[in-house]
Amino acid sequence: MLIREAIPADADAMSDVLQELIAAGKRTRDADADFVLSHYLGHPHRLHCFVAVDDGGRILGFQSLKRAHEGNPYGTPIGWGIIGTHVRPSAARTGVGSRLFEATLDSARDAGLRAIEAYIGAENAAALAYYEALGFETCRRPDGAICKAYRLS
Ligand SMILES: CC(C)(COP(=O)(O)OP(=O)(O)OC[C@H]1O[C@@H](n2cnc3c(N)ncnc32)[C@H](O)[C@@H]1OP(=O)(O)O)[C@@H](O)C(=O)NCCC(=O)NCCS
Repeated sequence: MLIREAIPADADAMSDVLQELIAAGKRTRDADADFVLSHYLGHPHRLHCFVAVDDGGRILGFQSLKRAHEGNPYGTPIGWGIIGTHVRPSAARTGVGSRLFEATLDSARDAGLRAIEAYIGAENAAALAYYEALGFETCRRPDGAICKAYRLS
């Protein structure tokens, strides 16, 4: 498995990851390539977006890291990072998310972030367990969600 920075040409394959999550009942929101371009690849507060690619060149998942800005939709403190992770259900539990986080964590340190926050649906047991396994700890509980933070300083 190769981890590399995502490029605009990855938009369709990243959209396919999101479509697979929708088909598996693990996502309800937008998933088309335009959404991937605006929300991840071309987002003005993007710090990084890493993709995990298998030996055949197939994208198995991706992880986005944005810098929290004033008025961000999650209420994440300014100066923190906002993380989002999406792995194909067919590749789940094979270490894709963990490998992506190695790259994201290095980048977050390089960017001087004080912490990284994940905004997770309160019912999303897999994501809660995933972030806990990486060392994230619950920092706040907005309505219907649990926010977990990984402190860097
Ligand atoms: C949550 C998600 C990112 C995990 O990715 P992954 O590639 O399967 O994670 P990994 O294989 O690296 O798992 C690392 C550890 O996390 C924990 N974990 C991951 N998925 C889990 C699950 N379904 N149940 C319990 N623990 C889980 C385990 O401790 C696991 O280690 P182990 O397999 O050695 O026991 C993936 O399931 C996903 O994309 N879910 C849908 C999208 C989503 O909800 N994203 C998070 C919101 S930002």
